[in-house]
Parts: sequence; C-alpha cells; structure tokens
Amino acid sequence: MSEVKPIFQPNKAFAKEARIKNMCEYQDLQDFATEDYEGFWDHFAKEKINWMEPYHTVLDESEAPFVKWFDGGKLNASVQCVDRHLTERKNKTAIIFEGDRGDKQYITYLSLSQSVNRMANLLKTKFGVKKGDRVVIYMPMIPEAAYAMLACARLGAIHSIVFGGFSSEALKDRIEDADAKVVITADGAYRKGKPYLLKPVVDAALEGNTPVEKVLVVERNHEDITWVAGRDYSYNELIDNESHYCDAEPMDSEDPLFLLYTSGSTGKPKGVQHNTAGYILWAQMTMEWVFDVKENDTYWCTADIGWITGHTYIVYGPLAMGATTIMFEGVPTYPDAGRPWKMVEEHKINQFYTAPTAIRVLHKMGEEEPSKYDLSSLKVLGTVGEPIDPPAWKWYYEAVGNSKCAIVDTYWQTETGGHVVSPLPGATPIKPACATFPLPGIMAEVVDDLGNKTAPGEQGLLCITRPWPSQIRNVWGDKERYVKSYFGDVVKDGKPVYFSGDGAIMDEDGYITITGRTDDVINVSGHRMGTAEVEAAIKKSSDVAEVAVVGKPHEIKGEGIFAYVVLKNEENLGELVDTMQAINNIIKKEIGNIALCDDIVFVPGLPKTRSGKIMRRILRAIAKGEAITQDTSTLEDPGVVSQIESCVKNGTCK
Ligand code: WTA
Repeated sequence: MSEVKPIFQPNKAFAKEARIKNMCEYQDLQDFATEDYEGFWDHFAKEKINWMEPYHTVLDESEAPFVKWFDGGKLNASVQCVDRHLTERKNKTAIIFEGDRGDKQYITYLSLSQSVNRMANLLKTKFGVKKGDRVVIYMPMIPEAAYAMLACARLGAIHSIVFGGFSSEALKDRIEDADAKVVITADGAYRKGKPYLLKPVVDAALEGNTPVEKVLVVERNHEDITWVAGRDYSYNELIDNESHYCDAEPMDSEDPLFLLYTSGSTGKPKGVQHNTAGYILWAQMTMEWVFDVKENDTYWCTADIGWITGHTYIVYGPLAMGATTIMFEGVPTYPDAGRPWKMVEEHKINQFYTAPTAIRVLHKMGEEEPSKYDLSSLKVLGTVGEPIDPPAWKWYYEAVGNSKCAIVDTYWQTETGGHVVSPLPGATPIKPACATFPLPGIMAEVVDDLGNKTAPGEQGLLCITRPWPSQIRNVWGDKERYVKSYFGDVVKDGKPVYFSGDGAIMDEDGYITITGRTDDVINVSGHRMGTAEVEAAIKKSSDVAEVAVVGKPHEIKGEGIFAYVVLKNEENLGELVDTMQAINNIIKKEIGNIALCDDIVFVPGLPKTRSGKIMRRILRAIAKGEAITQDTSTLEDPGVVSQIESCVKNGTCK
C-alpha cells in the first residue's frame, strides 16, 4: 500500500479566477474526452489554432501507431506564436531576456516578429533553406535561439536543437543523423560571469565529411573565433539588411516541426519527431491549463532550450498563448543562490517552473535566500524532469511559495511533447511529490504487462492508451525503432499502446505517483542518459574490455552515473587514477560533461547470465551498497558478485 500523503487544497482566491476552477470542471472535461474523443480535440483545435486551411479529419488511426491529427489542415507555428498577436499584443513584451551578468532585453511581439522574419529571410535567401530542410541549432540561452526556432518554423524547415553542453562528437552524430544542411550557433556566451566559447565545438563537429553547407554565427560575446570562408557567416553583420516580412509557409498539420534527440536503450540517440498542429495545440493548451498564465502575468521556465522543456515551455507554449516568457542565460547559483529569487522580485514573476535538481541545489546552498526577497507575485510553482523528493517539495512549497502557491509536479517526456499527468493549480487537491491525475484528453493508465489496470498502491507501467495530438510521430529515419521503442511492451484489448518507459503507482484516490524509469535510462539532474550511450563512449578506450553503467542515488543530481569497468590488461590497474581520468576524458569528448561518471570501479568481470546478458539489477544493488538478495545461481560465474562487492568496498578501485 502506498503511504498516506497530506492533501493541499488549491488557494481559493486563485481557484476563483482559474481556467479550470475545481475538480467538477476537470471531470467534465475528462468526461467530454472519454465520451467523444474526437469531438473533444476538434473543439480545442478549432478554438485555439489559426488555421490557414481547415482540416477534414480529426484523427486518422488507420495506420496506427503512425497516426494523423487534423489531416488536411494547414497552419504555420510561427504565425501561431507571433503573427496572430500583432493586433492586440503588438506592444506587449513577448520575451524578457536576462543575461548571466544581469543585462536585460525586453522584446515586444512586434520586435519578435521582425527578428523572426528577418532571420527567416536570411536563411531563405542567403542559405537556400526551404521546407523540409534540417537545421541544427547549437545555441546558448539568448533570444536569437528563439528567433532561430521560429524562423525555421516559418520556412517549414525542421529544426533540431542540440543542447550546448554536448560535445563535438555528440553534435556531429546528431548533425549526420538529421542530415542537416545548416547550423545556427553563437561565438559563445557567458556563464558565471565569464565568457565561454561554443563555435570551436561546431568547427570540430564539421571536420571531415559533413552535410553542413553553411553556419550562421550570432556574435554574443565577440570572442576571437575561427571563420571558415564561404561557410561561416555573421548574423550580426547580415541581419540588418533583411526585410521585416517573410511569407509563412503553409504547413500540413502533419509536416514535421522539429526533431529533438534523446536517449533510449541503445547507444544511438533517437531523433524524436514532432509534427506541427498537434504539438502546437497541446503546447498552448497545457500552458493555459497547467500554469494558468493570465494576460498580464510574467512566466519563467528555467530550462535550457536544448531540452524539450525549453521547446514547449519557454518558446512554443508561452508564445502560442501570447504570454510574456523569460529567457535566462545564466545559472541559478550565480552570483549566489539568491539569483532566481532576485529575478522573481525584479520581474514580478507569477509562474516559476524548474527541475527538482535545481530546487535541491538552491535549498542546500541558500536555504534562507528566498526570505530576503519579495516573492509575493508568485502564484504557481512547477517542477519537471524527475520525481521530486518530499524535503525539496516542502522547502519549495513553504520557503519559496509561502505556503500559498500550487505546486504543479508535471510529468511528461520529450516524446509526449507536453505535460500528460499534472495537477491543475486551481482545481487539484495536491499530494506532495505526486503528479496526480492525467490532464483532460490524456488517457494515461497504470497497467501491468498485460495491459490490465493495476490495483491501488501496486507498482505498474505508465501507459497512454489512446493517441494524443502532441505525441511523438516517428524516430527520425527509423520507423521500426519508433514502433519497437514505444509500442512493443504493452498490449491492451489486442492493440499495442504507448508505454512511457516509466513505472508508476496509482493510489486508492486515483492519484498517480511516478516511480522512475523501468529501462536502462538514468536520470542525471533531470537529463536522460542512456546507459548504453555512456557504455558505448567508455568502450572507445583502448584499455577497456567491458563496461556496465548503472544509476546510483545522488543527493543533488537525483541519480549519478556508476561505471563498472573490466580492463583488457589487469596490469594497468597500477595506473588506476590515470585510467579513470582517461575514461572521463573520453566521455567528455564523446558526449559532454553531463555524462561524466561519479564512480568508476575496476572489476575482474561482470555478472552475466549464461546467455551473456548483464544482470544490472545486481550492479545497481551493489552501487547502492545494498545486500544482494537476487538469485545469483543463473549467473555464468556466481563468484564474480563477491569479487565486485569487494572491489567496491575496498576503495582501491574507486
Ligand atoms: C522523468 C522531460 C517524475 C521520467 C520533460 C520521464 C519525471 C523522463 C517527471 C523524461 C515528473 C519527467 N516526475 N519523473 N514530474 N517529469 N520525469 O524526455 O522518467 O527529458 O520518462 O523530458 O523524465 O525526460 P525528458
């Protein structure tokens, strides 16, 4: 049975004004969707989207799991996010940019429109970018990153943002997989008061054969960088010559809008493909329902645009609804752990959305900091990316939210495009650290392997049993992997259903608590890392014979990476420290700092079954320091377990 959690009722004054005011209204919406699924989505698609041409079919499941939403319709996501606000919101601030060093820009919808159109014209006329081309964006958190996304959307080019912390090798892989012809980047940016460089990473990624023809460089910090003639162009020099208007390409509802690579259970990242209409619709609907942003509100999501949260909840969602969204270049602990709260006070932020890992750092480094600032503007606090632990939840609720803000623990994934299980701030009685209920229209269920609903309190698999508009449409260039990754494990009523890869428990009141991944994906600081991806990187070391990587609980990061390494030549053990360093250097080169191992243990062998499968459960238990309770008799060499345990214990190997 699950533990009994206290319930926090929505703030009454807030609920009165909220879009969804109570659980009856929530239930009405959910009933609408249950009774007339297509009617529900048709209603919102008509209400929310400015169609260039109407659709003829709401949902086509004839080739499921390849589904089509709003077939026949035409629209453009940049029109949805910018043009349609140019009447009533022309002078409203669309983006507030705050740089690492405190520099600020207030960008109105009119100015956003001009910047997006000019960048679209530049890409079109100078670089020949057209509908369907792939453009990789490797950018810091500066407004030009948002312009780049929307400029691509305007032309119908498919953007693929690669997080600025990824290495040149990781960038190269993603450029090649997407066959991108243009990269948009910056010379560098600022972090913790100091400039850093990005462009050299792009230069290294483009060495040798590359599909990339042109590189557009935004000069953010005017550092000395290399310019390759005929390939690299300065945005700052070219942009002023471009016109303020560029026709928006009429896109089919199911034309791809963007790709975003994410980790899966093999070494190769998956290019998650989102298409235009369904994605933008749900981005807007969830912004409205989950954050309940009002016309004069200021909203801040601290994510990086290199992750899905930055896509949906810094750029597409807020701009689609005409909100004011903050883009922040820096880190939350610079110059001190009061930075976010100082920003809340200064910008009078009403909704604040961040990750549990950031909350834990801010709690640890600046427990008393929130009390030094006026945080009374805050109405809704959000979390995303990993399960939030109760102490972090409590501090967030009490110290930051002054016990009056709703905390929306939003559960979703790169593949879901937007929130799928989340409290509604004016309606849902909240249990701490619990994602609560499926959002209206999302048929999320906790089931067993056979697709049957689990009993209350029992561990199950989180599935979504009907297609929804913002779901992943394909793994770029790999239909088979799409089907296998998401529709292979759970079958309900004879049909494969979407399985998230997450475990969950539904309690007797119907509340859903996410318990974490059931596959070999580790969640490091809210970022997904496939163990296979890290292993593939480590295997590039010529000293390494075998490797297995598992997650280990980490106070701040949620999970840290723990690697068990078998060396080719045991004599190298004498130079352990060097080898550890060498292994982390390889990871840095192949993936980036986000995948560095917290622990590397050299072991004589790995626990394998007779068929050669590594028993990771055992390795996870050893990493946590737990006693081995699993049956080890099926192992090829059961003796290896105690050898590994002593390697971990006697420290010489760590
Ligand atoms: C985890 C991030 C618990 C989950 C939007 C999921 C969460 C993975 C929550 C997706 C939450 C996300 N509670 N776990 N509120 N939100 N997760 O693709 O394991 O980077 O599968 O998308 O993060 O990570 P991704």
